[in-house]
Amino acid sequence: MPRRICAGNWKMNGLSADLDAVRQIAADVGSGAEVVICPPATLLAAAVQAASGALAIGGQDCHPAAAGAHTGDLSAAMLADAGASHVILGHSERRTNHGETDALIAAKVSAAQAAGLTAILCVGEALETRNAGRAEAVVAAQLAASLPRGVDPARLIVAYEPIWAIGTSLVPDTFDIKLMHAELRATLAQVLGAEGADVPLLYGGSVSPQTAQAIFATPGVDGALVGGASLTAATFLPVLCALQGA
Ligand code: PGA
Repeated sequence: MPRRICAGNWKMNGLSADLDAVRQIAADVGSGAEVVICPPATLLAAAVQAASGALAIGGQDCHPAAAGAHTGDLSAAMLADAGASHVILGHSERRTNHGETDALIAAKVSAAQAAGLTAILCVGEALETRNAGRAEAVVAAQLAASLPRGVDPARLIVAYEPIWAIGTSLVPDTFDIKLMHAELRATLAQVLGAEGADVPLLYGGSVSPQTAQAIFATPGVDGALVGGASLTAATFLPVLCALQGA
């Protein structure tokens, strides 16, 4: 039975008052899926309290170094120290806004795992790449290049997030999601051998109460990375319900 996982990515949203959403989600979350909420770093420790053990809490980025002169950055050990168990790495917004390369992201995955965190590694194509018919090849290459040497498959989750589907209400055809997940599964097997089969593969990009059911029914989809719909209990709980019933 594959693991079922749903992670909420709050991005640069959330003040202390918004932790009520974490409390509500923690109170009403059912069983049958692992649920992670990734608030901004300022709320990590408080979110761990609010989740009262019912939800895992994750960061949204970390520096590849363990410590040092990196003003404004956070190490993986700091996230773990605040109570995080996961960290999102290589999100397309960081790849684009901060020029993050596959090599840098691979170094961050290593650092995260060395600190005991599970890395939620994001990959995904731009619309031009999909329209050019190169989505599978480009995203598979991105995944292979973002996996560090010695990566621990037990502390790895991969999220396929087509850039053009993020925050747009556009969702790929489920046939295309299925194809991409099969391609990424094959890449994981190539790089990790038999252990690649156990790495959860999430879909992300405009997952909502309206779109969740069809996405979770798609072969090869083990769960979702959810942005906008993870910000409130009213929108995140139905997505979790859809996953638990899938
Ligand atoms: P979205 O974001 O669900 O708001 O499209 C997903 C993400 O960027 O992780």
